[in-house]
Amino acid sequence: MASKLMHALQYSGYGGGADSLKHVEVAVPDPKADEVLVKIEAATLNPIDWKIQAGALRPFLPRKFPTIPGTDVAGEVVQAGSAVKRFKTGDKVVAILSHANGGGLAEYAVAKENLTVTRPPEVSAPDGAALPVAALTAHQALTQAANIKLDGSGERKNILITAASGGVGHYAVQLAKMGNTHVTATCGARNLDFVKGLGADEVLDYKTPEGASLNSPSGKKYDYVIHGASGIPWSTFEPNLSATGKVIDLTPTPSAMMTFALKKLTFSKKQLVPLLLIPKTENFDYVVNLVKEGKLKTVIDSKHPLKKAEEAWSRIMSGHATGKIIIEP
Ligand SMILES: NC(=O)c1ccc[n+]([C@@H]2O[C@H](COP(=O)([O-])OP(=O)(O)OC[C@H]3O[C@@H](n4cnc5c(N)ncnc54)[C@H](OP(=O)(O)O)[C@@H]3O)[C@@H](O)[C@H]2O)c1
Repeated sequence: MASKLMHALQYSGYGGGADSLKHVEVAVPDPKADEVLVKIEAATLNPIDWKIQAGALRPFLPRKFPTIPGTDVAGEVVQAGSAVKRFKTGDKVVAILSHANGGGLAEYAVAKENLTVTRPPEVSAPDGAALPVAALTAHQALTQAANIKLDGSGERKNILITAASGGVGHYAVQLAKMGNTHVTATCGARNLDFVKGLGADEVLDYKTPEGASLNSPSGKKYDYVIHGASGIPWSTFEPNLSATGKVIDLTPTPSAMMTFALKKLTFSKKQLVPLLLIPKTENFDYVVNLVKEGKLKTVIDSKHPLKKAEEAWSRIMSGHATGKIIIEP
């Protein structure tokens, strides 16, 4: 397909936000042997997309300029590389593209076979595209870092989820409640009912003194905190943790890394654990199937056409999305 052109959004340097995204016509990428070429039906954005543009991972990412950002897509396989075994032309899929290459804000993208999963007909393209980074991060935090069993077995645990109205948080609340847990969640006032509706047992408005203190209204001490918000110091978490409580930090700052090291070195029972998503196919299949079975829902903040994807970019940069932002061709 290399000779065929497609519409895409690119940026050519660090910084500049939505204004630096340019609409371009570029060659449709060619899949390597272990890749599929996907005609994109929906894509989503994650905070990491704009943070990479802002230079947060400089000089490692993006790997080259100009770059097409975006990693989470759903669509149809239109070409399969020579070594691809699980997919063929016409298959509906969800895929996570590498942060190194991106490619999601376009009409077509190439995805590694091992980071692509089948999308059953019950899962719409937007509901599927919303999943990869956000739902897999929530799943990894709960099942690996917090060791929660999502079949409901296991000892009861008290969990705090910060930024529960966001992309990761809204999946984390739903997944946590599949386990044997009591969930306290934080969000803004406008989302209190929304987060309660996701299944949270108690919800705190983060802009009130009670919310800022993170104190559980029912007096629970947290065994785990899935921390999706930012700017909360260890001193706020510490008194709210159980004797062996852990803060699983999705956005560790240098100061959080210092706390992590200090708690390790002093053999503290209360710990801060930085988390980095390592996507696994079986977990990917698992969350897609939960959506298929109606056990996990994607909540959509807003939908934007690819021709106006800069509006989606501004929205993710605002930090005020409720659920996931979707871009459609
Ligand atoms: N480590 C990893 O591998 C990994 C993977 C995925 C995400 N992350 C990180 O995790 C964080 C969350 O990601 P996301 O996709 O969920 O972000 P998001 O969708 O942009 O989160 C937006 C939501 O957070 C709420 N919020 C903001 N500040 C808050 C606070 N102090 N307390 C409670 N709620 C607050 C906002 O509510 P209001 O509008 O009411 O303010 C909004 O609904 C980001 O920093 C992201 O980079 C890390």
